[in-house]
Amino acid sequence: MPTQRLSVVVTRRLPERVEARMSELFDVTLGPRDRPMTRAELADAMRTADVLVPNLRDRIDNTLVAQSGANLRLIANYGAGVDHIDVATCRQRGILVSNTPSVVTEDTADMTMALILAVTRRIPEGLALMRSNDFDGWSPNALLGGRIAGRRLGILGMGRIGQAVARRANAFGMQVHYHNRKRLREETESAVSATYWESLDQMVARMDVLSVNCPHTPSTFHLMNARRLKLMKPEAVIVNTSRGEVIDENALTRMLKAGDLAGAGLDVFDHTNVENADLRSLKNVVLLPHMGSATQEGRSEMGEKVIINIKTFADGHRPPDQVFAAML
Ligand code: 8YV
Repeated sequence: MPTQRLSVVVTRRLPERVEARMSELFDVTLGPRDRPMTRAELADAMRTADVLVPNLRDRIDNTLVAQSGANLRLIANYGAGVDHIDVATCRQRGILVSNTPSVVTEDTADMTMALILAVTRRIPEGLALMRSNDFDGWSPNALLGGRIAGRRLGILGMGRIGQAVARRANAFGMQVHYHNRKRLREETESAVSATYWESLDQMVARMDVLSVNCPHTPSTFHLMNARRLKLMKPEAVIVNTSRGEVIDENALTRMLKAGDLAGAGLDVFDHTNVENADLRSLKNVVLLPHMGSATQEGRSEMGEKVIINIKTFADGHRPPDQVFAAML
């Protein structure tokens, strides 16, 4: 490793403490505060920097990777998901990729529960009523939702976040079920009283609530396609705090409109879609602007992870959170 400080380009402004510490350690250039970098700015950064710190809004595809400069050796992503980075092409060019797992786990799992409750207990409708000044007092039949205790929750993707959702669902009295590429070890499974389904189709057909917690990879793209969504019970709800692309959003919207599915809670959207205005107008849908990991603590810890990954790399070691194409 060279002894001079690494030149690090951060594509977007991060929490102040994180930026300050980065500037102590590296030769840092910060991106624009209020907007993502343009493609030209990103290409420029990748031509000059030793290390790039992007986030999910920076699409680092094979063309950009192919045009990157010889200095670029590490892409230390600010975030856990790396579906915006062509990890395989990076590897071919000897560029390492790291991410920030673990520190987003608890916050994202909290937001999953928040969405489950918001949809099943009709919280946005209650909020809208209070804001409208039309509330004239308690009424026995107003805004009746569904009880989540005793309901079956199917977790699609039982990694760190899926397991954190399972722990919370246990506390809420839900029955936990899951589908994952690999079955969990018996101790892990029984710690969260989770039932494994090898067949996703079979699980989907029997759940009251389905929570998407798997990463977006080529094999999970539209995993919840029209055919699979149709297997869901009409009274079931679906929530997604992972990546929108795991669900075919057009098919989901059609089903919600037709009343073939009771509701949806989405913190993430399918970017292969033109913006789905219909989804926004549906009463049985709760939409959030990708807030899953948006806590003060989470954002600082994500920054800490990025720093540790870069520093470890600068010291001649593998970044602890290196992402390998085989993991995707
Ligand atoms: C982050 C996320 O806020 O970590 C992730 O993958 O989806 C988010 O919660 C985002 O990635 C920041 O880049």
